[in-house]
Amino acid sequence: MLHLMALMNLRLALCGLCLVALPPFIACGGGQPEAVAPSNPPAASSEAAAPSAAPSSSPSAPASAASAASAAPSASAAPSAPPGPPGPGDWDAWTHEQKLAYMKATVMPQMGQLFHEYDAKKYAEPKCVLCHGAGVNDGSFKMPNPGLPKLDPTPAGIKKLHTKFPGMVAFMGKKVVPTIANLLGEEPFDPKTGKGLGCFECHTKK
Ligand code: HEC
Ligand code: HEC
Repeated sequence: MLHLMALMNLRLALCGLCLVALPPFIACGGGQPEAVAPSNPPAASSEAAAPSAAPSSSPSAPASAASAASAAPSASAAPSAPPGPPGPGDWDAWTHEQKLAYMKATVMPQMGQLFHEYDAKKYAEPKCVLCHGAGVNDGSFKMPNPGLPKLDPTPAGIKKLHTKFPGMVAFMGKKVVPTIANLLGEEPFDPKTGKGLGCFECHTKK
């Protein structure tokens, strides 16, 4: 049920933008190579889609905000955090401390909420370790994180992923990738150009 609801919210959020980007497990079920980035709206609209997908996809924000209460995105939570998302290309120039502050103040609450909405039981209270794994303990927060499930980037591998984890792949492609890309001031992966933030920002390859 929760999966369905997440997808429906998502459709509501995205359907105005591009109909062709509807459920990726349908769109990409044929196993086309493009499936690497099931998430991505066609190139022309990706710029518009990414920024609007994040805010508009959180109608139930207050309901699940409790899970991220400790890192509320208010100014007081992290006085040293930069005010807003990094501009295009800015992220790489930020210091480790700036990134850390922004992760705490903004990325964790928003991404945590996404996971929570996708599966409130499994992701009751997402923390940094969800994405960073061992990088939390050693303080490096290095990404991609080899502790996450390794993904096979070949067309056959991607097809298998769609079959094995349809809900998770749709969630990753439709929600996780566009939202984190937007938060980091980057474009989501575009299979046409092969550029942009995609699955391998977080996952390592098999
Ligand atoms: C949804 C996944 C996700 C969550 C949750 C998350 N991060 Fe990150 N984090 C990333 C990604 C993606 C990067 C960007 C890697 C890059 O620079 O390309 C990153 C980068 C960082 C960096 C910069 C690392 C460096 O190379 O200097 C720090 C520090 C960091 N995160 C801290 C945190 C902290 C602290 C939390 C919890 C409050 C957190 N992150 C939660 C995904 C996540
Ligand atoms: C911002 C970081 C991030 C990005 C980008 C990302 N993922 Fe994930 N992914 C995760 C995390 C974190 C988990 C693990 C969740 C958990 O522990 O339950 C995960 C889990 C998965 C799983 C579940 C595997 C299993 O064994 O249960 C699949 C499949 C997956 N991701 C596919 C993808 C695909 C395909 C993409 C690109 C379209 C992608 N991910 C992009 C963070 C990311």
